[in-house]
Amino acid sequence: MSQLIIALSKGRILKDTLPLLKEAGIELLEDPEKSRKLIFPTTHPQVQIIIIRATDVPTYVENGAADVGVAGKDVLMEHGANGVYEPLDLDIAKCKLMVAGKVDAPPVRGRLKIATKFVNLTKHYYAEKGEQVEVIKLYGSMELAPLMGLADRIVDVVDTGKTLKENGLAPLELIAYISSRLIVNKASYKRKADLIQPLLQQLEATVNAKK
Ligand code: ADP
Ligand code: PRP
Ligand code: MG
Repeated sequence: MSQLIIALSKGRILKDTLPLLKEAGIELLEDPEKSRKLIFPTTHPQVQIIIIRATDVPTYVENGAADVGVAGKDVLMEHGANGVYEPLDLDIAKCKLMVAGKVDAPPVRGRLKIATKFVNLTKHYYAEKGEQVEVIKLYGSMELAPLMGLADRIVDVVDTGKTLKENGLAPLELIAYISSRLIVNKASYKRKADLIQPLLQQLEATVNAKK
């Protein structure tokens, strides 16, 4: 009997995806927040869930180390994720990918310095605009960079805008609306259609019912 591996990341994706999987008859047998395990059996005998970093989800799925995954569109844009199918918008973890900068910052002379963890998509965004910028890679707390003089702008996801506001920053440009997507390895999509198709149909029905 074939097995299906689903890759999820801790935090909001896990929290928002588990109720959707539950509707499809897939529930974790153990609380991942209380365990150091990385592979979790589920109530579905053919399905296991692995818990990895959000940015690693496309890598696992592209290489077939996981059959299915859930990843933010921001992560997929940054990764490229060309080798996977993206059949379903799960409509969870919704936010906006934005350029932000200091409130009342004087105009910048010369090249803009942009701090972000999304280096590839930021380069692509400014290249499309025909603007030469310097991109500085950070791994988190991007909002700090303009305050400390490390960068003029940041590119990050914004939801309520609270983090920007509390750090004296303001949203400047919208790059993309973001939500999390179901991604599927291309070979698994065919070879494990017996497991993947019913899962897709059930998830789609649940997502549509919530709209
Ligand atoms: P990470 O540890 O990589 O920051 P998160 O759990 O914070 O992972 O984010 C996972 C995904 O959720 C992101 O790729 C993005 O699509 C979305 N996201 C991130 N921050 C927010 C937010 N504040 N509100 C809603 N969605 C968000
Ligand atoms: C995300 C993002 C922003 C914040 C935006 O951080 O990187 O800092 O949320 O949300 P807001 O507009 O509602 O304030 P997150 O909470 O994921 O923290 P972390 O990634 O640094 O752990
Ligand atoms: Mg985060």
